[in-house]
Amino acid sequence: MKRITYISRITNPLSIKEIETIGMISTKNNKQVNITGLLVFFEKLFFQIIEGDDEEVNRLYVKIGKDPRHGDILRIKTEHGINERLFPI
Ligand SMILES: Cc1cc2nc3c(=O)[nH]c(=O)nc-3n(C[C@H](O)[C@H](O)[C@H](O)COP(=O)(O)O)c2cc1C
Repeated sequence: MKRITYISRITNPLSIKEIETIGMISTKNNKQVNITGLLVFFEKLFFQIIEGDDEEVNRLYVKIGKDPRHGDILRIKTEHGINERLFPI
């Protein structure tokens, strides 16, 4: 498995509702592909950790990277060959 940690900045103001929707859709989609992690929003920044099978994590990271709601994506860490999740549920 693999784990990616990044931060990014919103491109335009987002309402609480829009942020909640991103969280809800992420939870639903990630469950289907067995990706776990953490998504935090503070000030104008997102902080996210995604972990799971290499291919799924890669695919998701590309998809998230194309989302116009954020930019200035800074990948903090990529961990390869992990065999334990930080966020098992
Ligand atoms: C900061 C940020 C984090 C996101 N994280 C995820 C995620 O973990 N999983 C996910 O499926 N979508 C995530 N998204 C949303 C995707 O970019 C995309 O809008 C969504 O997956 C599309 O869902 P759909 O294919 O069900 O329409 C994130 C978006 C942003 C802005």
